[in-house]
Amino acid sequence: MKVIIRNTASEASLWVAHYIAEKINAKAARTDEPFVLGLCTGSTPIETYAELIRMVKAGEVSFKNVISFNMDEYVGLPEDHPESYHSFMHRYLFDHIDEPAENIHILNGNAPDLAKEAADYEAAIVEAGGFDLFLGGIGEDGHIAFNEPFSSLNSRTRVVTLTHDTRVVNSRFFDNDFNKVPKQALSVGVATVFGSREVIIMGYGSKKARAIQAAIEGPYSHYVTVSALQAHENGIIVIDEAAAGELKLNSYKYFKAVEEAEM
Ligand code: PGA
Repeated sequence: MKVIIRNTASEASLWVAHYIAEKINAKAARTDEPFVLGLCTGSTPIETYAELIRMVKAGEVSFKNVISFNMDEYVGLPEDHPESYHSFMHRYLFDHIDEPAENIHILNGNAPDLAKEAADYEAAIVEAGGFDLFLGGIGEDGHIAFNEPFSSLNSRTRVVTLTHDTRVVNSRFFDNDFNKVPKQALSVGVATVFGSREVIIMGYGSKKARAIQAAIEGPYSHYVTVSALQAHENGIIVIDEAAAGELKLNSYKYFKAVEEAEM
């Protein structure tokens, strides 16, 4: 894996936006096939999405031939609830870019048959050609998407139960009321994310430092599901200095040296 370290979350967010745009543009230059992109929600991607919106408006990249699949959605939360991931994605990205509506995929957490919804989602990803790039955040407990500790590293899209800790962390979006946070979600699996040809995981701030340390230096383990990135051939972790705070000094220096050598 590669680890990109920037001074601030804003600098890291810009790095990610430019990287994604370059990848979309590079594929568009070589083929008419769509670029298949996995997307996440949460506080972490907001500045990256803002930069992508700016780039679309400036004509520096286009999402006309991008097909996206979001990683998760709460079960039972109305789609038009301000904290649904449908609402989030439209607010922070889709309402401001040129991605055709029919190319946008978000799991339906209100589907009458959630198992079928999950299976259909996996089939649609295969039908689209599989992910070119999956963009994810990292939970304070080291989760990728809503794959909480002890999720199988071979898991696929399914209904998952959120940990108490994740519901407490996410209660900041629900009037700080833990009871308002849904107990379950539909989530892509660990294997769905890491089946992507390339994966970028972002983590910013000291509250992510322990999870980042575990993901990079800890064992490959279902206890920290994002650690499955260790077995990926094209995995990049993008962090700010604060999130790098728990890394060994030698690891930190090595990642910096690799980046310098490749510049
Ligand atoms: P956050 O969430 O971006 O809001 O920190 C990330 C996650 O829980 O995966």
